[in-house]
Amino acid sequence: MPPSSPSAAPAPALEAEDIGYTWPGRDQPALQACNLQLPDSGLWMLVGSNGSGKSTLLRLIAGLLPLQQGRIRARVRSALVFQNPDHQLLLPSCGSELLLAIDASLGRGERELRMDRALEQVGLAGLADRPIHALSGGQKQRLAIAAALASEAGLLLLDEPTALLDPTSQQEVLALIRRLTSRAEQPLTALWITHRLEELARCDGAALMRDGRLGPWQSGAALARRLAA
Ligand SMILES: Nc1ncnc2c1ncn2[C@@H]1O[C@H](COP(=O)(O)OP(=O)(O)O)[C@@H](O)[C@H]1O
Ligand SMILES: [Mg+2]
Repeated sequence: MPPSSPSAAPAPALEAEDIGYTWPGRDQPALQACNLQLPDSGLWMLVGSNGSGKSTLLRLIAGLLPLQQGRIRARVRSALVFQNPDHQLLLPSCGSELLLAIDASLGRGERELRMDRALEQVGLAGLADRPIHALSGGQKQRLAIAAALASEAGLLLLDEPTALLDPTSQQEVLALIRRLTSRAEQPLTALWITHRLEELARCDGAALMRDGRLGPWQSGAALARRLAA
């Protein structure tokens, strides 16, 4: 067999090279010569102490902050999921929230079909008319994920999505993302920031952020053991 040429390998889902970012009014950079490559679909987790630059990196990838230095290339559309869904969900009902995320140029029937499909994928089937304030925290977080799916994002950027949830909802959200990133058809890519070491056991690779720089991908379980030691 001929050696595989670089063009034979699929392009990485996301590539961030040599990223530097200093917040306005700050002397110290939040990110410095930071590199990140998501080689493939799957669940990729970032850990690191408070202030190490994880959220800044996610915001740059999502395009919410202007890039000051470096390059970011993404093969697919990305969507952010915040720690607090109340900061993200804007409309009164589940259905209206999802319709906001769906391509407005589509016909009404197709939009409603996509809305129903997104609800079904996150375990909220039939709840289109449910007021958002009547949802539990875990259901709200799953609705935020449904909105990302409805917007046809292939890359989910999750910033401590389980930090505010009770243990059962934490498990549900993690299991949902695990399922979406390992399904046979069109598996998604997720970049998940966590401070819960037990979550690291479920990822395909984990990296440690320290002082605005990201270490190499390693086994999540191994990194969790190192950090707990
Ligand atoms: N909105 C902001 N304005 C000024 N500085 C910020 C802002 N957000 C974060 N920073 C600073 O950037 C650095 C990295 O923060 P952040 O990306 O939030 O880290 P992490 O998510 O790992 O806790 C910290 O020094 C923090 O104080
Ligand atoms: Mg953060």
